[in-house]
Amino acid sequence: MFPRRRDGGARTTPFERWGGQPFFDSLVERFYEGVAEDPLLRHLYPDDLSGSKRHLALFLAQFWGGPEIYNEERGHPRLRLRHAPFPIGPAESEAWLRHMTAAVGESGLSDGDARDLLDYLAGAARSLVNAPG
Ligand code: HEM
Repeated sequence: MFPRRRDGGARTTPFERWGGQPFFDSLVERFYEGVAEDPLLRHLYPDDLSGSKRHLALFLAQFWGGPEIYNEERGHPRLRLRHAPFPIGPAESEAWLRHMTAAVGESGLSDGDARDLLDYLAGAARSLVNAPG
């Protein structure tokens, strides 16, 4: 027996309800516009951001119920391990989340969905701090 769902039993995923891969692609595009202008973060990323964009968009899509393309292309996420080469202190984590908050704010999600997405991103950003401030 499936539990009753808020969507009335249609059993859709956030990935489907929010607009599929194009939703995550444009979210990540807006996020990286902020990163590109941020001296605290920009130097951590490669000159060409296209791979970084693709990986983050596929990861987020997969996390919210989309196809497991990230895992097929990149293997298990292991985010702590993958971020270990980059010194991420509280300031970098907060800057990252600030750009995501702005991007989510412009995404057109309902307040409740935006809160769910940002709660997850905030927890993930905190969990990836690996350096003192
Ligand atoms: C806390 C602040 C964060 C910083 C400073 C940061 C920085 C970075 C950097 C520099 C890369 C490498 C980009 C590249 O090699 O192209 C990266 C990759 C990535 N980050 Fe973050 N990140 C942060 C938080 C997060 C969070 C919260 C998530 C998930 C919710 C995330 C998901 C990813 C993914 C999926 C990749 C690609 C991994 C791969 O397949 O190589 N990051 N991040």
